[in-house]
Amino acid sequence: MAAASHQAPGLLADRVARFVPPDVDPSTLPRSFALTEPLPARGSVPDDWTTVPRFERTGAGVVATIAIGPNTSLYGTGEVAGPLLRNGFVTEVWAKQPFRIEEDGTAVPNYDERSKSLYQAHPWVLAVRGDGSAFGVLADTTYRLGIDLRDGIRLTCAEPFPVIVIEGASPQEVVQQLGALTGRIEMPPHWALGYQQCRFSYFPDARVRELAREFRSRSIPCDVIWIDIHYMDEYKVFTFDSEGFPDPGGTNDYLHELGFKSVWILDPAVKAEEGYDVYDEGVAQGHFLCDAEGREHHCWTWPGDAAFPDYTRPETRAWWTRRTTEFLGRGMDGVWVDLNEPSPILPHGAELPNELLHRGGGGITPGNHARYHNVYGLLMAKATDEAMKVSRPERRPFILSRSNYLGGQRYAATWTGDNVSSWKHLHWSVPMVLNLGLSGQPFSGPDIGGFAGTPSRELFAHWMGLGAFLPFYRTHNALEGDQEPWSFGPAAENVSRVALARRYRLLPYLYTAFHEAAATGLPVARPLFFADPADLSLRSEDHAFLLGGDVMVQPQLLENGIQDFRMPTGEWRPFALAGEDPATEHAHPILRLRDGAIIPVGAGGQTTEEAFKGPLTLLVSLDATGRASGRLYEDAGEGFGYRDGDYLLTTYQAVLDDGVVQVSIAHQEVSSRSSEEM
Ligand code: NOJ
Repeated sequence: MAAASHQAPGLLADRVARFVPPDVDPSTLPRSFALTEPLPARGSVPDDWTTVPRFERTGAGVVATIAIGPNTSLYGTGEVAGPLLRNGFVTEVWAKQPFRIEEDGTAVPNYDERSKSLYQAHPWVLAVRGDGSAFGVLADTTYRLGIDLRDGIRLTCAEPFPVIVIEGASPQEVVQQLGALTGRIEMPPHWALGYQQCRFSYFPDARVRELAREFRSRSIPCDVIWIDIHYMDEYKVFTFDSEGFPDPGGTNDYLHELGFKSVWILDPAVKAEEGYDVYDEGVAQGHFLCDAEGREHHCWTWPGDAAFPDYTRPETRAWWTRRTTEFLGRGMDGVWVDLNEPSPILPHGAELPNELLHRGGGGITPGNHARYHNVYGLLMAKATDEAMKVSRPERRPFILSRSNYLGGQRYAATWTGDNVSSWKHLHWSVPMVLNLGLSGQPFSGPDIGGFAGTPSRELFAHWMGLGAFLPFYRTHNALEGDQEPWSFGPAAENVSRVALARRYRLLPYLYTAFHEAAATGLPVARPLFFADPADLSLRSEDHAFLLGGDVMVQPQLLENGIQDFRMPTGEWRPFALAGEDPATEHAHPILRLRDGAIIPVGAGGQTTEEAFKGPLTLLVSLDATGRASGRLYEDAGEGFGYRDGDYLLTTYQAVLDDGVVQVSIAHQEVSSRSSEEM
């Protein structure tokens, strides 16, 4: 179960302490949704423990303050727009669909660095001290939480909450411990690392087929085509438009024949219409959220008046799982769960009332929406994940969830929501993905090209160039113009081709980074300061970043002008993957290899299936002593054989000997247990 029962204050693990407000009986605190299992205290907090929260009661509720020393840099706080470095920002942990109201009163999806909350909820701050040591602060509550980083760390919540502090010699250590406590991703299928094409919406089925053919006829690599809400009959979840998508199984078969996978969207809200079997069943079985008087609550969503499932109930999750399993019987490869903050559509910015009752069960106590709002997305993702496991036990689930909660990477990947076709949003793609990674979610990416608006040719090209090096690589846009790799003319199409060739060649290395994320909790995309946490000059670099531990990505994300990047010490040698020249074509990030590293690259291909089959090349960058080493993780890319040892983790080493570089296999292992100890 997602909820872990709460235990007394004290030391939970080596260098992990839990603090409880002094006037609170710990047994009265709600269960944790962030921790994967209950953590009993193993002893008392040592006297020399330095990072101790100070609790106080104010009119706003309970405040926990954690002082920080000079040169302490703050990160995390989940999904936030704006710079990587979070010192000085005030945010709120409250899953939300952001809107901007235009002068004429119309509302458009939008967010910027002033947005206090976005779709995801991560009550978590990572602090890196001046000397490079670090600590993490986890406010273990699902209630709305204020995070004020203007003067140290100040957390405010209407309800009492425990604070878990993780100490580490480095930010990497803290983030790994966060993964150990809150869970890590499962290995995704190979195809989920490929390029993905989405639109709100490709419609009808004939358009989807035409799109698939066009990718193949233009020889542009692509693995996944996404099907947004227009496939439904009047936006009713678990239905299909009889004219637009008369045979969804046939649509999937067609895509599969051309080597594509498909991901279809599901919204939580169910149209309140008698005679619609999903609604009737939901009413009969009591699956919908009600007010204190037991009246079903309705909001205005895509299909009109609709009810929201109460995913805190095990019976409701089982119902959702059953419905989704039946839905998946038509051959969908993945599921996209949306609007699960949860968000009504009208009026813009509307939320479910805090007073609604969640009935819980099976370890989840009944409580109001104020208590369970932030975990609505996590519980929906969990029920959907269950459906994927039930309907195809031999395949790895793939779920993309717009909302989620700390630890929710166990169930779903995410994207940065309804961004805008602007250079600012192109830049924010990087710090947003990095801060999500520092908050436990390594599998994320932006809507390439921007969701709202239409990008210029240059902007689209730069986004394609950057996206090739972000964990999740999907183009998506709203109802406006076309946003395919060829929609902006031959120059942008060529940039896209090169970007895709770079991505598909780098897949063996990228997949190895995903393995590291699954095994250790380290992010796939990492901030540059991971290269040297004590180097203060790297702390605010949020254009350049690291992919895995060995590749530096230096993208040009400014409309006018060339970015000057911070550089860690050491030799980071530039390298090319697909004949690109970032010096003349700024849409392509410069790639650099850490000295002393060996990385595996493939031959590329039109699909990930092809790319993972091709021959391997090792790129070697010797350090000053003439040595290098690196790793390659390989498995079937699908299924669970890897858990029983059906994988290969190879460590390569290179030595310069008498003018000749000798590369050899230093170690190869097949035991899943030892791989987890890496
Ligand atoms: C909102 C999502 O953020 C967007 O990506 C999607 O296209 C629309 N809902 C329609 O489903």
